[in-house]
Amino acid sequence: MKSLLVTGGAGYIGSHTVRQLVAQGYQITVLDNLAYGHEDAVVDQQVDLVKGSVGDSELVDRLFSEKKFDAVIHFAAYTYVGESVTDPLKYYNNNTSEPIKLLQIMQKHQCRRFVFSSTCATYGEPQQLPLVESHPQAPINPYGMSKLMVEQVLQDCDHAWGLKSAALRYFNASGCSDDGVIGEDHEPETHLIPRVLMAITGEIDKISVFGTDYDTADGTCIRDYIHVNDLASAHIKALDFLERENESIQCNIGTGIGVSVQEIIDAAEKVTGKKVPLEYGPRREGDPSKLIAQPDFAKEKLGWEASYLDAESIVRTAWTWMNGPRKGRYDK
Ligand SMILES: NC(=O)c1ccc[n+]([C@@H]2O[C@H](COP(=O)([O-])OP(=O)(O)OC[C@H]3O[C@@H](n4cnc5c(N)ncnc54)[C@H](O)[C@@H]3O)[C@@H](O)[C@H]2O)c1
Repeated sequence: MKSLLVTGGAGYIGSHTVRQLVAQGYQITVLDNLAYGHEDAVVDQQVDLVKGSVGDSELVDRLFSEKKFDAVIHFAAYTYVGESVTDPLKYYNNNTSEPIKLLQIMQKHQCRRFVFSSTCATYGEPQQLPLVESHPQAPINPYGMSKLMVEQVLQDCDHAWGLKSAALRYFNASGCSDDGVIGEDHEPETHLIPRVLMAITGEIDKISVFGTDYDTADGTCIRDYIHVNDLASAHIKALDFLERENESIQCNIGTGIGVSVQEIIDAAEKVTGKKVPLEYGPRREGDPSKLIAQPDFAKEKLGWEASYLDAESIVRTAWTWMNGPRKGRYDK
C-alpha cells in the first residue's frame, strides 16, 4: 500500500481525489488548515486529517518523521484571482513560499515525488488555441504567477536533487461526485456552474454574464470545463507516471472542448427544468475570450483522458450535490 501526503485534501478538488485514492487502496494523510476546506469533506473517508499549514515546517517535519510518504500531492493554495491582484503577498506567501518550505522537508526526508496543482492561468492571454504545453507562460495576475514560480522551483529541484514532479495545469474544475455525497462548496463561490445553480435555488438573486460581444458563436466567453472526477483520476495517473518513468512532466488537464457561458446556462435550465435568473453586463477586465486545452499530451504520457465531455453531464452532477444529503453546503 502506498502512503501519500495530500495537502489541501479537504478542499474541492482535493477531497474528490482523496476519495478515489482511498478507493484504490492508498493510505492517505490530509494536511489542511481548513482556511477554505471542510472537515466533512474528508471525515467519512478512511483518512488521517491533520489540521495545519503547509508552511508549518515543524509540523510537516514531524509528519514525515512519523510516516514514510511515497509521494506528496499538493492542492493547498488560495485560488481567488481578483484577491491575488489586490493582495499579491498573501498569494506569493501561501502559494509559493509555503510549498517551498514543504519541499525543503521533502528533500530532508528524501521524498522525491510531487504532484502539483498548476493552472491554465500560467499561460496568460492565449496567443493560439487550443493551448499546448509549449505555449509561452506569461501569467496576467499574481495567482497565475504564484503557480508558475512553483513550476520553476520544481524543475530546479529535479536538477539539483532528483525531485520528480507532475505539474498538472488544470482548466476549469467543475461538477461534483456522481452520488452527491461530496461536492463544491466555496465561500465566496465564484465559479460559474455553482453560481448558476445557486441562482436557480434562490441562494443568490441572479448571475451576471460578463460580456456578450466576444468573438464566439453566442458572444459569451468560452472555457474548458473539466469534471472534478476526471481531475482526480489524472492525479492517480500522474503518480503512476512518476513511478513508472521517473521523470518530471508538465501537462494540461482539460477536455479540449470549449463551452460558452450561455451553453452552461442552457444546460442548467435543461437539467433543472427551471429558468436561470440573470443579467447581461459588460466584459470583465482580464477575461480572455476563449481558454481551451490541447489535452493530447496527457493522453500520450499519462494514459489519461477526460470522460465527462458535455456541459449537461457535468452540470447534472453539480445539481445532484445541491439536492444531495448536504444540499450543496457542508455546514448545513
Ligand atoms: N478550481 C479550479 O478551477 C482550479 C483550476 C486550476 C487550478 N486549481 C488549483 O487546484 C487546487 C485546489 O483548488 P480547489 O478549487 O479545490 O480549492 P479549495 O479552496 O477548495 O481547496 C484548497 C484547500 O487548501 C487548503 N489550504 C490553503 N492554503 C493552505 C495552507 N497553506 N496549508 C494547508 N492547507 C491550505 C484550504 O483550506 C482548502 O481546503 C489549488 O491549488 C488551485 O489553485 C483550481
